[in-house]
Amino acid sequence: MNEIKVSPKDRVAFVSGANRGIGRAITIELLEKGAKKVYAGVRNLKSMDDLKPEYGNRLVPILLDLRDDRSIIRAAKLAKDVEILVNNAGVYESGGFCSDETLDSMAVNFEVNVWGLVKLTVSLIDYLKQREIAAIVNISSLLGLASMPIAGAYSASKAAVHSITQGLRGELFLTNILVMGVYPGPINTDMTRDLEMEKDSPVNVAREIVEGLIKGKEYVFPDVMSKQVGELYLTEPITVERQFAHFISQEEEA
Ligand SMILES: NC(=O)c1ccc[n+]([C@@H]2O[C@H](COP(=O)([O-])OP(=O)(O)OC[C@H]3O[C@@H](n4cnc5c(N)ncnc54)[C@H](OP(=O)(O)O)[C@@H]3O)[C@@H](O)[C@H]2O)c1
Repeated sequence: MNEIKVSPKDRVAFVSGANRGIGRAITIELLEKGAKKVYAGVRNLKSMDDLKPEYGNRLVPILLDLRDDRSIIRAAKLAKDVEILVNNAGVYESGGFCSDETLDSMAVNFEVNVWGLVKLTVSLIDYLKQREIAAIVNISSLLGLASMPIAGAYSASKAAVHSITQGLRGELFLTNILVMGVYPGPINTDMTRDLEMEKDSPVNVAREIVEGLIKGKEYVFPDVMSKQVGELYLTEPITVERQFAHFISQEEEA
């Protein structure tokens, strides 16, 4: 097993989707834990202005649109000293596999969550390999481990992120790079605005991720629900699959 512990102290990180939700919380947590610099990948540079007084030049907003190849290449060129890459940016487009919207929903979810993540990682991988120690953190989802029918296309994109994480870990085995997969349950962000259920906070997720880096964890279940489901998934993945499918039918019945 690749046991690489990556304390953020005095290290340089890159967080995609750093302006809000989980990405913002991770950015702040890395800075609070002593990161030398955090590149904040955002689509609007001004969206980090409120944090500048607190963190000064340690916070470096960088334009990043994961649907735009040139933007990804430009961002990567500005972040050659990166040591911790956090692939956080993502979209949620609802829809399963049996509707008129299936292909559109697949395209939207995959363009950002999968292709965007892969393109950014590929653009930064050579820089990461040059560092003494480095980390790639991929934010998947519990839905990447078991699909929810109403979110079939999103779940498939997050399952792809899970598989990409495993693939990277295999390829980078015995290198300097820790590859971490993160599998959150429902977290209170804009993404889950319309979801009425108990949600954990982005701050807790960020803390668990940074603690995971420090401990060298390859799997992080960062919230109350994911800790429970994650444990069950490790022994009974089919039970989790059935529970997720049933969860939706209960919602529909209500
Ligand atoms: N919230 C949850 O319950 C939950 C659960 C499991 C996994 N996740 C995953 O956690 C990650 C963060 O989610 P969140 O809840 O924090 O969502 P969020 O509040 O909706 O934030 C999404 C972030 O991704 C950025 N983004 C979206 N499209 C982008 C693009 N084309 N290029 C660059 N950045 C883009 C957004 O930037 P803009 O502000 O410019 O749109 C924003 O910063 C996602 O990968 C999500 O799938 C979330």
